[in-house]
Amino acid sequence: MPSSRPRRSVLYVPGVNERALAKLPGLAADVVILDLEDSVAPQMKAAARERVVALLAMPRRDDGPELVVRINALADGEGEADLAAVLPAAPDGILLPKVAVPHDLAVLRAFARAECPETGAALWAMIETARAVADPLAIALAQDQILPLTALVLGLNDLSVALGTRLRPGRAAFLPLMMGVLAAARAGEIDVIDAVYNDIADAEGFAEECLFAADCGFDGKTLIHPAQIDAANHAFAPSNDAIAAAEAIAGLFDRPENRDRGVVAHEGRMVERLHAEAAGRPLARARAIAARAEAVTRDI
Ligand code: COA
Ligand code: MG
Repeated sequence: MPSSRPRRSVLYVPGVNERALAKLPGLAADVVILDLEDSVAPQMKAAARERVVALLAMPRRDDGPELVVRINALADGEGEADLAAVLPAAPDGILLPKVAVPHDLAVLRAFARAECPETGAALWAMIETARAVADPLAIALAQDQILPLTALVLGLNDLSVALGTRLRPGRAAFLPLMMGVLAAARAGEIDVIDAVYNDIADAEGFAEECLFAADCGFDGKTLIHPAQIDAANHAFAPSNDAIAAAEAIAGLFDRPENRDRGVVAHEGRMVERLHAEAAGRPLARARAIAARAEAVTRDI
């Protein structure tokens, strides 16, 4: 199953932006992506790398946000320097951009094995190329001991350019690809995070897109601004109604009268064993989210 660790709000922060980096301790994002790639100008790459390494070296708590570094693509020349600098600083994850085929993950892992074999970091893969959305399953199944793949992250800005498909409200043209990526992640038993919403000022449109992505089954959404955190945390958490419903059916088949039954009626609806088993997941998620909320409150 995907991680019970909440990854509802996954905030990109340009690695070069000191003011934004300084804000991180007070933010309630489940994951922070320290970006060395698209949001950093070419002449600032080295400075960003240094800032990110310095931030990773600061004391961290186990129940703080996961810290993931988005490195540059290995083919760009900067990617190797990013990895060599960042891996020894023990990030929770490395996000590899522009993944096309499983070989890209193998190249990264070979480099990590040579450079920092004891790394405990996980691997996150950006799905934003035509090749990756044409065969996301191959990527989702590309597991290894070192840098185990833990999440796919949709990148629709790059994908829109790569495919020549316009990104419009509702994202109808992208939906088949989004669901293909989601199914691949589920088959690989890893998390899947939705793309960013570019219009920072449009809180209503953002909240709507979060709820839609949650309905689709995404575990969370990548964010570009702190103002987007609360809506994402809300949308990707099980609702109170969903928790109550899960609690009501989780133990149904443990009751003596139902022990030998495969299906029962509960409050006028059919409940099968698969529903009772599936009810464990929102309950585990709700517990993990409560623990995260408690940690954030202690931070502030
Ligand atoms: N993470 C942390 N803090 C952030 C932030 C982020 N992603 N985006 C903005 N902030 C901070 C700003 O530093 C600012 O604080 P300050 O006044 O102390 O400097 C505060 O939040 C308000 O920011 P605001 O003025 O509304 O936005 P801005 O004009 O400073 O920045 C962007 C707008 C889009 C440039 C900025 O949000 C950003 O860089 N986002 C991430 C982009 C990115 O990483 N893209 C790559 C992946 S798609
Ligand atoms: Mg990109």
